[in-house]
Amino acid sequence: MRKKIVAGNWKMNMNLYEGLELARGLNDHFTTNPVGDREVILCTPFIHLAMVSNLLTAPGLSAGAQNCNDHKSGAYTGEISAAMIKSTGAGNVIIGHSERRTCYGETDELLAAKTGEALRNGLRVIFCCGEVLEERQGNIHFEVVKRQLDRGLFVVSAEEFSRCIIAYEPVWAIGTGVTATPEQAQEMHCYIRRLVRDRYGNDAALDTTILYGGSCKASNAAELFANPDVDGGLIGGASLVKEEFCSIVNAL
Ligand code: PGA
Repeated sequence: MRKKIVAGNWKMNMNLYEGLELARGLNDHFTTNPVGDREVILCTPFIHLAMVSNLLTAPGLSAGAQNCNDHKSGAYTGEISAAMIKSTGAGNVIIGHSERRTCYGETDELLAAKTGEALRNGLRVIFCCGEVLEERQGNIHFEVVKRQLDRGLFVVSAEEFSRCIIAYEPVWAIGTGVTATPEQAQEMHCYIRRLVRDRYGNDAALDTTILYGGSCKASNAAELFANPDVDGGLIGGASLVKEEFCSIVNAL
């Protein structure tokens, strides 16, 4: 059975002390209110990763990074490798977030290389895909998501793919307060699951966790998560506030 997951994407927010306080608060909360068979992942800035990863003791809670480099090691000033992430104890990494694609020009090919590097180092990949507003208005959103997955993710082997989570994040919904309707989310998630089936077979399709991201918050999480193909969320802004994030996990 596929896992139900809520992942928080802190992005470039909070200094080390603020981040540790939030992580501690969440760890305490989920120690007394166990997540059960759900999973909660905190994707923190690199600076926080080792310490957050070490303090998360509640079952089902783990840490992740928001990006990694596509090379193994070497002269890449300012960059962080998948092996370095793994050595912090964090087990997850977000690859292909739309902000990386847009602000840093990350191409499908580069993302494929990053995905491979992360998987080779034993990380679980949260691979993001999603269309911009003009693409949805032009009715090419399915095509766009298919291309992103084909080129960036579906290049990995079946064994590697079993360590991947997909996050559908319509770019027009990220940080805008505009959420995809539950119907729009379900329609795309169902389509993505069909693509996984075509590429990796029926069992893989049934086992793949597909998260929704984009202005998901406590007030709309339940209706999004109620859809059969929505297995949880990738949460940006609402993951920075303890109560809000806990309510989202509760909604799952
Ligand atoms: P948001 O971000 O929840 O703030 O819209 C989601 C994301 O970018 O992962």
